[in-house]
Amino acid sequence: MRTSELREKFLKFLEERGHKIIKSSSLVPENDPTTLFTGSGMQPLLPYLLGRPHPDGKRIADSQKCFRAEDIEEVGDNRHTTFFEMLGNWSFGDYFKQEQLSRLFEFLTSRPEDGGIGLDPRKLYVTVFAGDKETGIPADEESIEIWKKLFAEKGIEAEYVALGSNGNGSEVGMRNGRIFSYNVRKNWWSRAGVPSKMPAGEPGGPDSEVFYDFATAHDPKFGRECHPNCDCGRFLEIGNSVFMEYIKKEDGSFGKLAQRNVDFGGGLERLTAAANDDPDVFNIDVFSAAKDYLERETGKSYADNKKAFRIILDHIRAVVFLISDGVVPSNVGRGYLVRRLLRRAVRFGDELGAVQGRESARSSLSSVATAFIDEYKMAYPSLAKQAEFVLNEMEMEEKKFRSTLKEGLREMERILANGVPVGNEIDPEKVFFIYQTYGFPIELIEEELAKRSLFVDKEKVKAEMKKHQELSRIASAGAFKGGLADSSEVVTRLHTAHHLLLKALQIVLGPEVKQRGSNITAERLRMDFSYGSRMTEEQKKEVERIVNEKIAEDLPVIRTEMPIEEAEKLNAEREFGQKYPDVVSVYSIGPKSATEDDPKFKEAFSIEFCGGPHIRRTGELGGFEIMKEEAVSSGIRRIRANIVKRES
Ligand code: SER
Repeated sequence: MRTSELREKFLKFLEERGHKIIKSSSLVPENDPTTLFTGSGMQPLLPYLLGRPHPDGKRIADSQKCFRAEDIEEVGDNRHTTFFEMLGNWSFGDYFKQEQLSRLFEFLTSRPEDGGIGLDPRKLYVTVFAGDKETGIPADEESIEIWKKLFAEKGIEAEYVALGSNGNGSEVGMRNGRIFSYNVRKNWWSRAGVPSKMPAGEPGGPDSEVFYDFATAHDPKFGRECHPNCDCGRFLEIGNSVFMEYIKKEDGSFGKLAQRNVDFGGGLERLTAAANDDPDVFNIDVFSAAKDYLERETGKSYADNKKAFRIILDHIRAVVFLISDGVVPSNVGRGYLVRRLLRRAVRFGDELGAVQGRESARSSLSSVATAFIDEYKMAYPSLAKQAEFVLNEMEMEEKKFRSTLKEGLREMERILANGVPVGNEIDPEKVFFIYQTYGFPIELIEEELAKRSLFVDKEKVKAEMKKHQELSRIASAGAFKGGLADSSEVVTRLHTAHHLLLKALQIVLGPEVKQRGSNITAERLRMDFSYGSRMTEEQKKEVERIVNEKIAEDLPVIRTEMPIEEAEKLNAEREFGQKYPDVVSVYSIGPKSATEDDPKFKEAFSIEFCGGPHIRRTGELGGFEIMKEEAVSSGIRRIRANIVKRES
């Protein structure tokens, strides 16, 4: 089955069952500063899971572009990709477990001519939530019963195997089970992970996952016994139904959301692999043209060079989608990830080319990108329009990288010029330094060393790499908290103060002041904005005075949904470089007499494109204070500010 066929089938199946099909959002989260990238289908829909009515109703489905930076190092096996499409369907307080699981099972197992994808039900295994003592959230008995009946209708007696609260399937193994329960680490879903990691205000819930059995032999490297969540490659997770009915409260306990939601996500590429009964996700049609091209160009076969091929295919596809969503290579944030992906692809491209004795496969990367653009332009027409832009950005970045590589070579010569070490062994830390700073492939370093009869212990270099990976993981966990840290009460308040601050800055410094970044934690708010010089004390005082005046006026904060054109006509503040959907959410503050039915935009103090959350009235803020104003880069200033209790 082709990927596009599966995508269409899914959407049609859901549409016929009362779902409204919506377009994929950008990979750069719209109105959601909490994460760098859209990493799941539910992310853009968060406000509706929390109870806000969706303009298209209670049943929604889509195919959402997703990017998961945390999977970069995993790419190379037969299943991990950084970019993927997540098929999704949602019930916002409409249907729940029974309807979701039976509909999903029908889609997976009915014949293609009947609208499904024809998976053999005997190859499907499912998991459910085992319950959690710490939060008191009970086991999902209901889903076990539903699954038993569904399998029974196919003549399969589905036995249930409890893997216990430690959820260690490798101790228990498959037995004769078809339904398995796991603990919070496997069968609980929230954007933040397990319940203890969730911030206040975050929704989550137990989930039920479906796995496809490719019936390959178990690899004991991954544990004594195989089980659905084992990573040996026999089982592939193809879909996840989250029963999102809980919310974390300020005191750390869990309460019920106002509505019971379903959040289903299914990996499009993985579902296609299952439909073709081929465990290698890189064998599905979307990779074919690019793969064939690489084989021809390098004279190397995919079969003999899987890791390098997979890295190139995955990374270039991700780069194409990211650049076309406006993320260009740079040294920070999102741009840094594009840079990393592209440079990694270049290196592996060189490796494929170099081994063959050709100069390199470097110029081939744009052709690989073109193959992906051709492949996806029907489903994503904007890709074709952006093709020139994408290819240009890629080429410029590759050039930059090549000159860095040259510097790396010179650096290596410098190191070697310092004399040959005892025993001819080069310090692994030095080799790692070259690798890290100049992106110089270890294999190339080894080759260079060998010409001078030197060597390096690769294991020691690997140990250096591990050390570094751990450090960068910690650093990026911090970096990913851009924007709002959570939806707790104090962060929500600071968010409203942030809107007042932006408007006050425009009044005092001029209307050309634009927001260039924001980060809000429970401790303070931080805003980057465009302005050419240091603010004077008087200007700071005046900004504070205006914000405090608006707080004292106790203005209503009102959210309105409207077509993007209308919001543009209102001159609503928008974030630079940000892409927005056709229907946007706008927050206006004031005038005093404004109501949801009559927001009186003309008299509003501030209007911004924004997904919230916000407090209801500015009076809840008490008072406002600027803590610091400083330069970030040329033309960009940064303010740190906080809300304070007002002296009575
Ligand atoms: N949010 C869930 C996931 O990402 C299901 O859509 O798996």
